[in-house]
Amino acid sequence: MYRDYYCGETNEKMIGEVIELSGWVNKRRDHGGLLFIDLRDRSGLIQVVFDPEKLSESDIHWNQIRSEWVIQVKGLIQSRPRGTENLNLSTGKIELLAQEYTVLNISKTLPFELSDYKEETDEYIRLKYRYLDLRRANKYQVLKLRHKVVKYIRDYLDEQGFLEVETPILIKSTPEGARDFVVPSRNNPGQFYALPQSPQQLKQLLMVSGVDKYFQIVKCFRDEDPRADRQPEFTQLDLEMSFVTQEDVLNLTEKMFIGLVQSVAPSKSINSPFERLNYDLSMELYGSDKPDLRFEMKIKDFTTQSKNNQFKVLADTVGNGGVVKGLVAPNGNNYSRKQIDSLVEYVKALGGSGLIWIVLEDDPKSANQDFEFKSIVKKYLDSDFVKNIGKLSDANIGDMILLVAGENKKTLEILGNLRNKLGKDLNLYDKNDLKFCFITDFPLFEWDEERSKWTSSHHPFTMPHDEYISDLKNDPSSIRAYCYDLVANGSEIASGSIRIHKKELQEEVFSILGYSKKETNELFSQLLNSFEYGAPPHGGIAPGIDRIVMLLAGTDNIRDVIAFPKTQSGFDPLFESPSNLTADQLKELGITVEKP
Ligand code: AMO
Repeated sequence: MYRDYYCGETNEKMIGEVIELSGWVNKRRDHGGLLFIDLRDRSGLIQVVFDPEKLSESDIHWNQIRSEWVIQVKGLIQSRPRGTENLNLSTGKIELLAQEYTVLNISKTLPFELSDYKEETDEYIRLKYRYLDLRRANKYQVLKLRHKVVKYIRDYLDEQGFLEVETPILIKSTPEGARDFVVPSRNNPGQFYALPQSPQQLKQLLMVSGVDKYFQIVKCFRDEDPRADRQPEFTQLDLEMSFVTQEDVLNLTEKMFIGLVQSVAPSKSINSPFERLNYDLSMELYGSDKPDLRFEMKIKDFTTQSKNNQFKVLADTVGNGGVVKGLVAPNGNNYSRKQIDSLVEYVKALGGSGLIWIVLEDDPKSANQDFEFKSIVKKYLDSDFVKNIGKLSDANIGDMILLVAGENKKTLEILGNLRNKLGKDLNLYDKNDLKFCFITDFPLFEWDEERSKWTSSHHPFTMPHDEYISDLKNDPSSIRAYCYDLVANGSEIASGSIRIHKKELQEEVFSILGYSKKETNELFSQLLNSFEYGAPPHGGIAPGIDRIVMLLAGTDNIRDVIAFPKTQSGFDPLFESPSNLTADQLKELGITVEKP
């Protein structure tokens, strides 16, 4: 037997007991003749005292014990001497007085310190020694949180009558907008499996089978450009339901998320019910389809007021079919000139032609005739115009109005980004707030300038709103779909839709997307054929598990919530993968490699 308790479970009630503990030497302090160590396991720490007088003869090498050695200690739990208690530690009032110990394993000096607060070590090194990085208490807490999230979801969906069904990893291309990772088949030289970008078609096939309510906690694989919230290999809660409307899927999702947060992250505050915004309105008000609703700051439209403006920049923009839109930064008069200049640079870096800033020195609601304001372009601006837009945007004395003029879509995109930056810079939200919303009615198609073709906004299996079905080809850009995202604090947590379940409609969508009959057949015949055998109406959603844990753990870095993540470039420094195959392996697979 190695231990009676976990280190962090020991407590004052055990004073006087002789117990055994096992763990790692967290820290050692040699007090000339007495050795103090903190013994650590996943539950926490306890101080162990080695007093040579209390140790048996055979244990004379106690002084050689070093950090990160693995030891087993038998000893007496006693109170710490008055004044030496550590109130930051749950076991800080007691210590274990060692009587016997065994070194279970020794350790080299670690390549970096394990303190939770010393994460400045290069991330690559921490990933190379990930098994050491995971010894930190904060890392263990995240793994535990992730476990709880998945457990809550499994239990919840089980109660709601869902069945967890596993689907294959070696499959065929399942387009979700990224490139596939492929696996060569030895038995079929020259042929490849593709790893699923998601089990989308498989879950739809399960609906045709009558499974009715399916879910799976499942790995998905996408060869796409990395970002802070993306990994090439990630985990989804994939779910699908039959005989449901969009409302049914959203209601289930909302209940599950509220229950989840209350159960696993009770210190967070979550809004209920979730706000619902359609895509067009979300773009108009927040310049984004993933708005951060922890703060208000809506985008205002001043195009009409800018029409015949004496400031030519504004008038000309509107004259050329553009728009003038803006935001109000509360108490923007606190911004220094340097900070304002950096906002202007920020907008330019996003491709904007500039940013007009106006700091209000009077209350726009007052009847007062003179209206004072500050701006670098003050001499071009009419004070009635400024007062008017100040009133329209409900601005107060001391606020700063920020205007962007240009093409509508670009202007909204810039203001959406600027809004997020201001929210962060001005501390407009509480870090413990979770503000969820559903964005609905996405466009079915998007025009891809580069490839001159229509692409799916979400994926090709999404059901268009009924009124467009009879004439899809007429104006594809106008079609709105039963397609929704779950967004929290400005990040996309889940995506889903009601699906097409009729063969002809699905074929028409593929044809608008530019798939030939042959390609459609090669890639999608399994799904299209199944639709000929009584496919029920169905729909679903897929939240990203990594993103949920990021949100609850309060991190922007997806690698923090994955036990063994890959770097931004998709490399695994621990296993050093991807890596070469041997000549024999390649030969067996019938593959010749041409290095670029
Ligand atoms: P979608 O592609 O939007 O939809 O993905 C759903 C959710 O999965 C997460 N996600 C990712 N997380 C980490 N790294 C990535 N590379 C990554 N890509 C996506 C996000 C996202 O919201 N089959 C559809 C779902 C459906 O229609 O039911 C799908 O996969 O949280």
